[in-house]
Amino acid sequence: MPSGTRSLSEDHLIERQRRVYRFWAPVYDRLYAGILADAHGKIIELASAEGGRVLEVGVGTGLLLPKYSRRCHVTGIDISNEMIARARDKIAAHGLDQVDLRVGNAQCLEFPPNSFDVVILPFVLTLLPDPEGALEECLRVLKPEGTIVIASKISDGAGVVGLVERILAPFVEAIGWSATFRSQRLLRWIDGHSSVEVIDWLSSAPVGLFKVIKLRKSYHSPVQ
Ligand SMILES: C[S@@+](CC[C@H](N)C(=O)[O-])C[C@H]1O[C@@H](n2cnc3c(N)ncnc32)[C@H](O)[C@@H]1O
Repeated sequence: MPSGTRSLSEDHLIERQRRVYRFWAPVYDRLYAGILADAHGKIIELASAEGGRVLEVGVGTGLLLPKYSRRCHVTGIDISNEMIARARDKIAAHGLDQVDLRVGNAQCLEFPPNSFDVVILPFVLTLLPDPEGALEECLRVLKPEGTIVIASKISDGAGVVGLVERILAPFVEAIGWSATFRSQRLLRWIDGHSSVEVIDWLSSAPVGLFKVIKLRKSYHSPVQ
């Protein structure tokens, strides 16, 4: 959906994310670097095997940036000025001259079609007001034969875990996370796209809570 026609509730949710991550930015690395480390390692393994032009959506404080192979030219976007400012500090500290950062919204990517070999969404997809819309955008800017890597806390909502997730959802959302995005929702989107194939679906620590998923866009990608 073009940015001019975004709904009021979508704008409200995006504004809430900005507010929440303005608050998290100064302490984010100390709180999250450890818990996300295993998933981050898997993302880098999957992405660096591809190389080329990489788009990182929701780049945050740039925890992944120093880990990419220098063969990758990385563009990072994030909705939060404060998170991007931290990512800029990492570029300076690590001399990452192959990284380019800008403020941007996952729901309307400001890049032409077929711009990237790899698009990465680390712990951002489930926070978005319209995850399917964002995936369409990722597919649009991805080259044929390109790769999408998604990492998030995604479950099938079954059993006690699903029940606890539903109870905690309002509190978890207030601090900028999401508990209720279901794997079925992502699988439905994939099923609706004959050009998209699942290459890997990995569980990562802690206790398999996070999923790291690699998708491929086929060469003959029909217009969908
Ligand atoms: C949980 S943090 C993940 C940061 C980083 N990817 C990581 O793995 O450490 C989520 C990030 O997504 C960003 N974000 C939320 N909504 C967004 C949107 N609509 N477009 C771009 N970034 C967004 C937040 O500002 C925040 O930096």
